[in-house]
Amino acid sequence: MRLPGAKVLITGATGGLGQAIAAAVHERGARLILTGRHEQTLAEMSERFGAESVVCDLRDRDDLLALARHHSDTDVMILNAGVPAGGRIGEHAPAAIDAALDVNLRAPMILARMVSAEMASRGGGHIVFMSSLAGKAASPGGSVYSATKYGLRGFSLALREDLKAHSVGVSCVFPGFIRDAGMFAYSGAKLPRYVGTKTPEEVAAAVISAIEHDRAEIDVAPLGLRAAAALAGLAPEVVARIQRRLGAADFSSELSRGQATALTKPEKATS
Ligand SMILES: NC(=O)c1ccc[n+]([C@@H]2O[C@H](COP(=O)([O-])OP(=O)(O)OC[C@H]3O[C@@H](n4cnc5c(N)ncnc54)[C@H](OP(=O)(O)O)[C@@H]3O)[C@@H](O)[C@H]2O)c1
Repeated sequence: MRLPGAKVLITGATGGLGQAIAAAVHERGARLILTGRHEQTLAEMSERFGAESVVCDLRDRDDLLALARHHSDTDVMILNAGVPAGGRIGEHAPAAIDAALDVNLRAPMILARMVSAEMASRGGGHIVFMSSLAGKAASPGGSVYSATKYGLRGFSLALREDLKAHSVGVSCVFPGFIRDAGMFAYSGAKLPRYVGTKTPEEVAAAVISAIEHDRAEIDVAPLGLRAAAALAGLAPEVVARIQRRLGAADFSSELSRGQATALTKPEKATS
């Protein structure tokens, strides 16, 4: 899929990774449709990139259908919006589980369902899902988040096969811990020294590569984390034992506490 001149819709454009992805896609000469809830950030980004913007709460079913209907002629859809949903299952009110499922899994499925039919009838297009390494390897305190991110992986791989005959590409991107901006960086959680990070720009480069080279999956993490995620697919109990020894439960608690606090800061998306 060629990006120059293409119409590209990005969800979660106001967030840490979304802003880097928008900049990279704009640099490739695409026309951007940016969506999120944070009006001021959207207005600033629209001005900077000469983009159209749509304020849209992906939990609102009418908003979601309106977004899909008005932009069904999109050439590329980058389904990046997400909520961290960290914490043990008993710490989540049922409504918080609904929210995580709505934003992280239901909205991308509905948007993909709505635009892929038009892409298929036009004989081209590309859809990118933003999962996480938590969609390949589960950790303590990540049951709800991992459920949504594993779900995206399965949806993406199956959809890719369904749409192949119509020349519509489907990719899934799996970031590990991303520094400088985004939901991990905003949490303030400190990683053990031996766990490496990547940048939002590296995630954006992976998204571009996924679209231009029709890659099924791309991990964005240092080798050690990618290897651990691959091992988790083959031998999840071995990885769980290693995580227990390394004190992963304490780190997860710190991360979800930090993310819960960061979510209450309205200025987070404008930084
Ligand atoms: N940062 C990381 O280390 C990391 C690692 C792995 C995977 N990821 C994934 O990468 C994606 C982007 O995350 P990020 O780090 O950029 O997080 P972020 O900075 O918190 O941004 C989240 C984005 O999702 C949007 N969003 C959340 N709830 C929404 C709703 N109800 N309706 C519409 N938009 C909504 C936010 O929009 P508003 O603020 O405008 O509401 C924001 O643009 C997520 O899917 C996340 O799971 C991130």
